[in-house]
Amino acid sequence: MISKRLQDAINAQINAEMWSAYLYLSMSAYCQDAGYPGIANWFAIQFKEEQDHAQIFYNYLVSRGGRVILKAIDSVETEWKSPLAAYEHTYEHEQKVTSLINNLMTIAIEENDYAMQSRLQWFIDEQVEEEEHAVELVQKLKMIGDNGYGMYQLDKELAARVYVQAAPLATTAD
Ligand code: FEO
Repeated sequence: MISKRLQDAINAQINAEMWSAYLYLSMSAYCQDAGYPGIANWFAIQFKEEQDHAQIFYNYLVSRGGRVILKAIDSVETEWKSPLAAYEHTYEHEQKVTSLINNLMTIAIEENDYAMQSRLQWFIDEQVEEEEHAVELVQKLKMIGDNGYGMYQLDKELAARVYVQAAPLATTAD
């Protein structure tokens, strides 16, 4: 059984992951409209990954005998100045998500919940990758600047990204 404090914190995180999914789908729609289908693909895959994160927390709460409570998902921005602005926003957002995950770990430690700490370790590692990928793309887009051929090449590269289901979802027998 999981503590009420952790249950509430996990439910809040499910909502935060769904909000992240919504944000990235909105960025995908913006990039599609701006003429970058490959970058839109990158964000559409990010949308699926965030839903996986929400599902992992959902499954975990159920497996610990907790109760999932879904609340309304807040609205998200719909316009950015450029794909670079969208990736700068992505990096800033992922840093916030990292602090949410770190806060969850702090609560799990305070509650002496070792199982929760073990599950959270995957998210802590995942956040290192999330921030790294956002920074890489910010750097690439800054390097490209307003070079049209550079944007064409990057868009082609990001069109090749394929969705891979998150590891904990693939390994649990749900
Ligand atoms: Fe669910 Fe992008 O972290």
